[in-house]
Order: sequence, then structure tokens, then C-alpha cells
Amino acid sequence: MSDSTNDNDTNFVAQHGQWSSRWMFIMAATGSAVGLGNIWKFPYMAGKSGGGAFVIVYLICIALIGLPVLMAEISLGRRGRQSPINAMKNLIAEAKANKFWVAIGWSGMLAGFLILSYYSVIAGWALVYIFKTALGDFAGLPADQIQGQFAALVADPFQLIIWHSVFMLMVMIVLARGVERGLEVAVRYLMPALMALLVMLLYYAVTQADFQAGVDFLFVADFSQLTFGSFISAMGHAFFTLSLGMGAIMVYGAYLPKNINIISAAVPIVVADTLVAILAGLIIFPIVFANGLEPAAGPSLIFETLPIAFGQMPGGTFWGTIFFVLLVFAAWTSAISLVEPAIAWIVEKGWSRTVSVYAVGMLTWLFGLLTVFSFNDWAFEFEFAGLVKSNGFFDAIDILTSIIMLPIGGILIAIFCGWIMPRAAIKEELALSSSRVEKWWGVSVRYVAPIGVSIVMIYLILGN
Ligand code: PHE
Repeated sequence: MSDSTNDNDTNFVAQHGQWSSRWMFIMAATGSAVGLGNIWKFPYMAGKSGGGAFVIVYLICIALIGLPVLMAEISLGRRGRQSPINAMKNLIAEAKANKFWVAIGWSGMLAGFLILSYYSVIAGWALVYIFKTALGDFAGLPADQIQGQFAALVADPFQLIIWHSVFMLMVMIVLARGVERGLEVAVRYLMPALMALLVMLLYYAVTQADFQAGVDFLFVADFSQLTFGSFISAMGHAFFTLSLGMGAIMVYGAYLPKNINIISAAVPIVVADTLVAILAGLIIFPIVFANGLEPAAGPSLIFETLPIAFGQMPGGTFWGTIFFVLLVFAAWTSAISLVEPAIAWIVEKGWSRTVSVYAVGMLTWLFGLLTVFSFNDWAFEFEFAGLVKSNGFFDAIDILTSIIMLPIGGILIAIFCGWIMPRAAIKEELALSSSRVEKWWGVSVRYVAPIGVSIVMIYLILGN
């Protein structure tokens, strides 16, 4: 490597900091990946699409597209060594490519901002539910009253705004402390805690709930339930759950020291993320079935159905509280990664990190109000790919980001990495030890990912 690259590297580290080890990168990226997507979205999506068949499509998308694109995104981030927008500029210069490719950085930054705006509102619900369960608000109540409590919460913009604000504040405090003192410290404590809570809940599901029914629901496939809508949701969710296609992984990759091997960092992230989604399902469905409830509730699955179960099962106050703490921890470590691309970009413009964080945070908070009012005053219904959506802007932002922006961002990343970057540069970055793995990766990013995602997109545009 030339001296000038080393100088750039020193400047970069001085400006942003970097992960102190491979393990910290894995924890941070896993923290980004494991979030509301795994514990809130995945189970309700599987519930709505009949379980097993959805899970299979999702797993195929993760293995065939998720892992190779994750490796591509980390490589581009570390090679570009700046916020996604500026990293793309550096890479374009290196590859002598068209300026158009900066779009990857811009669209990613925008997607992260949009996702966090609603993510924070939902995380706010989880915060409320920690207190509700801990205070025994559900204990012994009939189902309709527990559902009534959720309905009352989302009907009250004032309450939603308060909890949305609390969560945004939690996120901004971590971000303002920077990569090493903020992000790294947060994941160092939150990730092990998250794993411990997950194991405790799993123990409950296996020993006390209807575990077998949960297993059957998740792993016995009924393909007749699979529609184009659920297929496309599974693909979009593969990007969402791995935090792909929007620069979060790219900027985390930029903070990855040069000497760390990318595939050995990427595989554990994918495994951990998939495992948490499956385990979340294996915790939630056994509890739902053991209490004679239905899994197909949609977004309210864990805020209505699960609390009914917590209300009637022995020890429900304890287990319920643990569940919602888990959810908040997971959401927290994901939320910080959603706006890190934007913050890094503003820092590179010469602003202080604190000012950047609060500027981005305020803007995200404000935009989040669209989601707040989607559940009450401004609710409207529409249909998308055969799925009926009833929460206006919230659903629209979710679809725009996870079904459109992330998959498109993801294939652009794959194409840029596979076709535009000089092969030698990517080879150096990835440093794959086996030529078979190198071939598999090349075929995936050059053909499988772009063609697979394009076919789904074309179907979508043609109106299936
Ligand atoms: N992966 C996160 C989740 O599953 C969401 C996320 C998407 C985070 C994109 C960062 C970037 O909840």
C-alpha cells in the first residue's frame, strides 16, 4: 500500500475513530442487524404469510443475496474509508467510473433517515410496554381490554410523541459520544445483555409454552399461503434485517481496521442475525399458541397478542418485562447505525460531531411525526402488491424503504463491486483464501443478486 493511502488512513481514524477489534466490529454490525426487524417484523410477517413457506423464501434470500451483498458492502466501505457518499466518490475516482454511482451514498443516507423516523416511534411503543408489563397492567385482564390498551396508546399522539422523543434522545446520546466511546461502549454492554435475555425467554418457551406448535408453524411449509406480496416482503426483509443497501454497513465497514478479514467478520453477522429472528419466532409463537391465540395479527402481534399471553400466564409480568427490554435493546443498537452514514458525512464537512448528531436527530424526530399521526388523525388505507395497508405514511415509508430503496441500493452495491471496481482492488480488500469461495462470491454479486432482485422489481412494476 502506498504512503498516501496510509496518510489518508491516519486522517480518517483521527476524524472518526475505528473499531478496536474484529470482535467489536462483529458486535456492532450484529447490533445493527438485530433489531425490530428480527423481533417485531419477522414474526408478524411470517404469521401473516402462513409461517414455514415465508421462512424458507426468507432464508434463501439471506443465503443467496444477503451474505454476498454484505461482504460487498463492507469491502466498499473499508476501501472508500469515509461516509458512504464520500466513500463512493473515492471509489469512483479509483475505478474511474461514472459519477452516477454516488447515488448509492445519497439514497442510503435518505433511507436511513426515513427508516429511523418510524423505527423510533415503534421503539417508543416498546418502551411504554416495558413499564406497562412491569407494573402488571395486563395481569389477569381479558383479551379485549389488553387490545384496548394498545388501541388507546396508538390513538394518542401526545403519548406517542413523548416516547418517540425519549427513544430519539437515547439514540442521540450514544451517537454524540462517537465511535469508540459511544457506539462501541453501547454494543459492548447491550449485545451480551440481549443474548442473555433471549436465552432466558427461549428457556421459558421450551419448558413452559407450546414449543412444538411454534416449531411446526415456523418450519412446516404451506406454499399455498405464499403470494407475490409475501414473496417480495421476504426479499425486502432480507435486506432490511441485515441492514443492507443503505450505507449503515458501509460506514461500519469504513471503521474496520485494514488488517481484518472480511468474510470471517461477515459470516458471524449473518448467522447471528438469522438465529435471532428464528429464536424470536420460537419464543413468540409457542407463547401465542399455548394461550390459544392466533399468530396472524400483523404489526400488533407483539403489542396485543403477546401481552394477552403475558397477562394470563404464570410469571407473565417478569417474562413480559424481559421481553420488552430485549426489544428496546435490539432497537437501540440498530437505530444508532441508521443515521451514522448521515452523521459521518456531516462530520466530514467540518461540523462537530455533537452538532451533527443533534441536527440529524432533530430532523428525524420531526419526520417521525408522520408515523405518529399514521395511527390516529392521519390514518389512511391503501393496497400494495396485494397486501392491504391501513397505516398511511408509516406503511408507505416502510414500503418505500424496505421494498424499494434497500433492494435497489443493494443491487447497485453488488453491481458496483462486481462489475465496476477494478478486480484487483476488491480482491485485495476481500482477501479470500480459497478460489472456490472467491468464485461463489463473484457469481453472487455479478449475477445472482442483481438478476434476482431485478426480476422481483420488474414483477412489482408490471403489477404482478
Ligand atoms: N436491521 C435492522 C433491523 O432488523 C434495521 C436496520 C435497517 C438497521 C437498515 C440499519 C439499517 O431491525
